[in-house]
Amino acid sequence: MKVLANDGLAKSGIVALEEAGFEVELTTVAQDQLVDYINENKVVVLLVRSATKVRTDIIDNCPSLKIIGRGGVGMDNIDVEYARGKGLHVINTPAASSHSVAELVFAHLFGIARFLPQANREMPLEGESKFKVLKKAYAKGVELRGKTLGLIGFGRIGQATAKIALGLGMKVVAFDPFIDAAHLELEFFDHQSLFFEINTISKEDVLKEADFLSLHVPAQKEYVISTKELELMKDGACIVNAARGGVVDEVALVEALEKGKIAKAALDVFEKEPTPEVQLLMNPNLSLTPHIGAATGEAQDRIGTELASQIIDILK
Ligand SMILES: NC(=O)c1ccc[n+]([C@@H]2O[C@H](COP(=O)([O-])OP(=O)(O)OC[C@H]3O[C@@H](n4cnc5c(N)ncnc54)[C@H](O)[C@@H]3O)[C@@H](O)[C@H]2O)c1
Repeated sequence: MKVLANDGLAKSGIVALEEAGFEVELTTVAQDQLVDYINENKVVVLLVRSATKVRTDIIDNCPSLKIIGRGGVGMDNIDVEYARGKGLHVINTPAASSHSVAELVFAHLFGIARFLPQANREMPLEGESKFKVLKKAYAKGVELRGKTLGLIGFGRIGQATAKIALGLGMKVVAFDPFIDAAHLELEFFDHQSLFFEINTISKEDVLKEADFLSLHVPAQKEYVISTKELELMKDGACIVNAARGGVVDEVALVEALEKGKIAKAALDVFEKEPTPEVQLLMNPNLSLTPHIGAATGEAQDRIGTELASQIIDILK
């Protein structure tokens, strides 16, 4: 049986599938040629990450297909209900990348707290000639310890982010319309654990209290953060969006950065992917990454193994 991993698959997944007798194709087939490719090669399992879209054209016209698998969380690139209605299995790996995304949030937070995005842009150009000028320009760093991290969305990634924040000595406040409280276990290398109970509060209170705000909600129709929400925030607060493009209103964010209402922000996801607005790319107060939240070797290994074991369970 053929598995097409159109957006790649970690070695752990390939090995597990091949050992179970599957043939794994790692070719990246162009979106408009996918239907023909799947039919010609009688592909039974189509695996994607976020790049390949699995819409009705594929679901309706590829009779060999039995499973659509998403390596990762958000399934907005797949017509999930439609596919299930047609008898296809749609699977994903919801927990595999939570810690990777949480660590990326902190990579951005530590970076923006100490001017790393700007310093990294300027040091290669002027580090030799204007060292003292740059040293002065980036002298007003802040520490994360003792500050308040606000979380919008307190599911798997929100909670993983909260654990890192608690370990650093930050206060954590969170809003989630579907979660009243979370019981968090912070596990240490020597098997000791600390337990925290965090009760969620209103969105308005999170926005008012946060020094740093991080979003961990699924893709949705409306902006979660736009002008109204930004106005409620502390002057000089910072925002990270490693959830989905379209969760934060980018125009409103740039305006807030220009006014100084928001001091800095970090974006891993963009309203226009893979061609983000140039106003974002050139903004010195933005820390930017190209949608790499789940892109660690460890997460990709977990994704590969989880997908393989689900496929084997369904088909073998
Ligand atoms: N940057 C990346 O590479 C990357 C990687 C993985 C996931 N993600 C994104 O992270 C998101 C969160 O993932 P997760 O595993 O934590 O999902 P999850 O389902 O465990 O948690 C999402 C939480 O958001 C809450 N929520 C929904 N709408 C909300 C709203 N308007 N305001 C506040 N809370 C709201 C839900 O109740 C849920 O508890 C994913 O949907 C995906 O879009 C990004």
